[in-house]
Amino acid sequence: MIFPTVDYHRGRIKIIDQTILPMEERILELRTVDELAEAIRTLKVRGAPAIGIAAAYGMLLSLENLLRREVAEAPEYFFDREEGTSHFRGNGIKTGDIRERLNGTKKILAQTRPTAANLFWALDRIYSVASIGEPEPNSLCKRIAEEAFRIHTEELEVEYAIGENGSRYIRSGMSILTYCNAGGLATAGYGTALGVVYCACEEGKELRIYACETRPLLQGARLTAWELRKRGLDVTVLCDNAAASLFVGGLVDAVIVGADRIAGNGDTANKIGTLILAILCEKYGKPFYVAAPWSTFDVGLESGKDIPIEERSAGEVTSFAGRATTPSGATVYNPAFDVTPARLITAIFTERGTIERPDRVKIQELADKLSR
Ligand code: MRU
Repeated sequence: MIFPTVDYHRGRIKIIDQTILPMEERILELRTVDELAEAIRTLKVRGAPAIGIAAAYGMLLSLENLLRREVAEAPEYFFDREEGTSHFRGNGIKTGDIRERLNGTKKILAQTRPTAANLFWALDRIYSVASIGEPEPNSLCKRIAEEAFRIHTEELEVEYAIGENGSRYIRSGMSILTYCNAGGLATAGYGTALGVVYCACEEGKELRIYACETRPLLQGARLTAWELRKRGLDVTVLCDNAAASLFVGGLVDAVIVGADRIAGNGDTANKIGTLILAILCEKYGKPFYVAAPWSTFDVGLESGKDIPIEERSAGEVTSFAGRATTPSGATVYNPAFDVTPARLITAIFTERGTIERPDRVKIQELADKLSR
C-alpha cells in the first residue's frame, strides 16, 4: 500500500484526508463514530469500497469506545489491524448492550451517504455477524473485530482480481479515459477502475491515461492524478467539458470507471458526469467499462431508477477555492451521481469474472452462483 486510505490502528480509525490532497498529505485519527460520520459526509474518506471499509471500522470503533467505558481496568486499546484481537480483555459487558450499541451506530453511519451500496453492505455484514445466536460477550467482541478486519483484507484481494479480469480487455498502446477517482484512495489501496490500469501496467502494457477533472470536487484532477503520479505513471488531466473533443480527435480507445451502486439489471450509478462519457462511447464506437466489486451490486433493485441519488450542497457549485463563482440568488442543481443505463455498458469487471453486455439474467446468474 502506498498510502493508508483507511486503517484501524490501536483503537482509532486512520484515514488520509482526501479533501486537502494533493496540496497536503495529512493523516487523520478518528476517535468517535461522529467524527467518522463527519469524515464520510465531507468526503475526507470517499469512494464506495473505502466508505464500506470505514463503516465496518466505525462499528468496531463504537464497540471499542463502549468497552473503554464499561470494562474495568481497560487497556489503552482493544483492537488493532496488525495485532488483531491480542489486546482484547473484556469483562462485564452484556451481549444485549453490544447489539444495541451496534444498532445505533449502524443507523448513524447509514445516514451519511445514500448512494454507495458498499456502505450498507459493510454495515449489514458486521451487524449480522453480531446478531447470530446467543454468543458469550467476549467471543462476540472478537467475532466483530475479526469480521471488520476481514472486510478490509478481502477487499484488497477483490481489487487485485478485478484488475486481472479487466486487464484482459486492455492492449498495450491503448489510451484510457477515466472519471472521478476509482483508485487506491477510493478502496482498500489498489483500486477498481485504476486497478485495471495498474494491473495492465504491471503486466508491461504501455497505456496513455486521461483523467477528467470531475467537477465540482475535482476527484479526478486532485486524487486520480495524485495517485497515478505516486506510482510513477503519466497522466493527462482535462476539464470535463473537453472529453468530447478527445473522442472527436480519436484520442480515446476505452473508458473505465468505478461504480457506487449497480442495480439488478446492470444500470450503474457513478460520479455525476459518468453518463456523458458512456454516451460519447456509444456515439464514437468505443468500449465503456465499469470495474466494481460484487459488494457494489444491489441485485434487489429493479433498475437504476431505484438507486437513491445523493444531492449535495449548493456551496460545492457556487464557489471555487473559497471564492464565489455565481451571483447570489442563483439556484443550484448538484446531484453527486448519475445512472448509466446497462445498454451503454460494454462490460462490468468484477472479482467473480466479467459480465459482458450486462443484463438482469447475467447478473442473476452470477448472484445464484455466489449463493450456492
Ligand atoms: O463522491 P465520491 O468521491 O465518493 O464518488 C466516488 C465515485 O463516484 C467512484 O467512482 C466510486 O465510488 C467507485 S470507487 C472505486
